Amino acid sequence: MPYEDNLTAERPTFVTHLECAATGERHAADVVHNLSRAGKPLLVRYDLAGVRNALAKDALARRAPDLWRYRELLPVRRAADIVSLGEVMTPLIRLPRLAARLGAGELLVKDEGRLPTGSFKARGLVLAVSMAKALGIRHMAMPTNGNAGAALAAYATRTGIRSTIFCPDDTPEVNVSEIELQGATVYRVNGLIDDCGRIVGEGKAKAGWFDTSTLREPYRIEGKKTMGLELAEQLDWQLPDVIFYPTGGGTGLIGMWKAFAELAAIGFIGAKRPRMVAVQAEGCAPMVRAFEAGTEHATRVADAHTIASGIRVPQAIGDFLILRAVRESGGFAIAVADDAIVAAIEEVARQEGFLMCPETAATYAAFKQSLADGRVGRHERAVLFNCATGLKYPLPAVARRLDLTKPIDYAAL
Ligand SMILES: Cc1ncc(COP(=O)(O)O)c(C=O)c1O
Repeated sequence: MPYEDNLTAERPTFVTHLECAATGERHAADVVHNLSRAGKPLLVRYDLAGVRNALAKDALARRAPDLWRYRELLPVRRAADIVSLGEVMTPLIRLPRLAARLGAGELLVKDEGRLPTGSFKARGLVLAVSMAKALGIRHMAMPTNGNAGAALAAYATRTGIRSTIFCPDDTPEVNVSEIELQGATVYRVNGLIDDCGRIVGEGKAKAGWFDTSTLREPYRIEGKKTMGLELAEQLDWQLPDVIFYPTGGGTGLIGMWKAFAELAAIGFIGAKRPRMVAVQAEGCAPMVRAFEAGTEHATRVADAHTIASGIRVPQAIGDFLILRAVRESGGFAIAVADDAIVAAIEEVARQEGFLMCPETAATYAAFKQSLADGRVGRHERAVLFNCATGLKYPLPAVARRLDLTKPIDYAAL
């Protein structure tokens, strides 16, 4: 099969409507939307009986290994609207040495750092921009902690759509640079991501920008959903026991939970679901507090701080969806300290040769903690998501040097 087939072949699509995640009210497909009429996220709904008839596992297995192999479960109708930078299927990497040392079962990392722009944000934004192209949107704006902005910049530029992006002052330098270099206009803002979100909201009202914020835009979650579709297919349609997910806005966690429901509806998986674990940093853990308090919504964190910038989200519009997925799955929410994150990056890199981003290092620290306190069993299969390449983040300096003006003592090196 030619490698570009998924990008060029017309395949049947099955979107029926969009549904308010809070009230269930139907909204029309194929028109521009942000939030529902009730001011809540919209979820894309499909004719799943139709998908069941149109898509078989063996046909899927013959398609090229990229995100677009799941076209029947995605909203883009025409192949001409697909925007792509090569959204490869990301590998599952085993961490056998650490699993053995910890006395754990199977420990796998899905390495999303292989995607275009080096993070899983490519999944969501390739869908958002493809749908923007299909719907004739000309100017997209977004608040970002870095990686999402980079992905929007890349795909929007490739499509000829303008993009304007706002990030907190201390967003990693590499993110701000890549956003600008990939053709967007980017501003640092002396506030947090929700302050940036307010600017986008005002720009929408005053300048007609399209608001591409997490869950205020209905299609990013459909792209993030493919993490769950891929994971299921890679594990031969047997879902793992537990998934540790670094949770900011929560699109990935909510998206995967949606993916599993859709896979069950089309008969690809049975009733077994993983326990979904929302991992946050102690300095910004609204979901953990709400989970522990048993509430449906989370309270904004006033002084949000953590080195894991991707999960520094003081308030998420999809809070009730994150909490619902975690509770329905029998999972939990857990916070880890920044020094545990730093230690985890080092431990995994030195032991397994795998460089995690800080957000994923948080999931490894949370996994260790949960194994120790019995919330994860010693024979369970666990999956962590490496959401971005570790190379995007500041790394420790190395002081060791060789002086060529002196003889080298090779035995001592
Ligand atoms: C590296 C990284 N991990 C995790 C997250 C959180 O993702 P989500 O919005 O799906 O919760 C982000 C979001 O910015 C991120 O950049």
